[in-house]
Amino acid sequence: MARFGILTSGGDCPGLNAVIRGTVLQGTSVHDHEYVGFRDGFKGLVYGDAMDLDRSVVRGISQQGGTILGTSRFGPYVEPDGGADNIKVALERLGIDGVIAIGGDGTMAAANRLLEDGIPVVGVPKTIDNDLKATDYTFGFNTAVEIATEAVDRLRTTGNSHKRCMVLEVMGRHAGWIAMYAGVAAGAHAILIPEQPESLEQICEWVTSVRDRGRSPMVVVAEGFKFPDMDEAHSHKGMDGFNRPRLGGIAEILAPLIEEHTGIETRATVLGHIQRGGVPSAWDRVLGTRFGQAVSDLVADREWGKMVALRGTDIVRVPFSEAVGHTKTVPLEYYAGSRAIFG
Ligand code: F6P
Repeated sequence: MARFGILTSGGDCPGLNAVIRGTVLQGTSVHDHEYVGFRDGFKGLVYGDAMDLDRSVVRGISQQGGTILGTSRFGPYVEPDGGADNIKVALERLGIDGVIAIGGDGTMAAANRLLEDGIPVVGVPKTIDNDLKATDYTFGFNTAVEIATEAVDRLRTTGNSHKRCMVLEVMGRHAGWIAMYAGVAAGAHAILIPEQPESLEQICEWVTSVRDRGRSPMVVVAEGFKFPDMDEAHSHKGMDGFNRPRLGGIAEILAPLIEEHTGIETRATVLGHIQRGGVPSAWDRVLGTRFGQAVSDLVADREWGKMVALRGTDIVRVPFSEAVGHTKTVPLEYYAGSRAIFG
């Protein structure tokens, strides 16, 4: 009987448990596989720390947030214990025929290196940021957008009551997908994303024009957004007379500057890990389950070095080379088009 090991690596993401459940249910019922789960990402793989995953373990887990396996940002080549040779020994000891790595860009890059070193491995894409080019969507994104949209809705009522400008920071280091979707869904007056730098002057102009129309400005900003004059603008003179960068996320940098330049009272909210925690949306559970089933078929076919991905409505298999190092950013035409309906 073939036996495979699953690991979840990098930041956690709503829908991970649905992938684990989908893989185990498909693999045990259709392919007669056995599965184990490596604890805490690549750490479990390196140290051979694994738990049995049978149907009873995965029962009812797809509605749970996080990952039952634990995760970490530990790379598989971390010295002195990491590296392909030690991993091969661990796989041999546990009788594992192949590894399923569920993770983002960094995880797929690590998996690719393991493959080159002779370890049979496949991948499942994961990130709430939705910035992996090889797949149209990643699970976790939909849940994050729902949470961020609700946050904008909630901030709007308090902002309106106090006639304040509210600035909400959402996740997205390299791409502004969560900011775009939540901002459009909740009707934000300005959406700021890493793909499109805007000057502080321009941002303040938007905020002022919203206020002049009698509204309370709502700004959604992705954590990776920068404005061109930011480094200078966000430094402040400490009590000792030296200039220091202001601490905090981009929302906490922007809010006092908006207030200073527009005279509109402004508050910042950093949504942070709330976006990653808790119950996954139905959509993310379905996509996670489909990815899980598809990756079980992938290992059954021994197609190592591939990752499952969503293209349109189909689940496809793509080589690691397509999955690694390609960030999917928000197309500027889409961003520009959305501008027409801001505010
Ligand atoms: O999963 C990606 C991401 O959510 C980024 O948007 C964010 O910058 C990062 O993870 C936060 O990671 P950590 O949990 O390590 O603070």
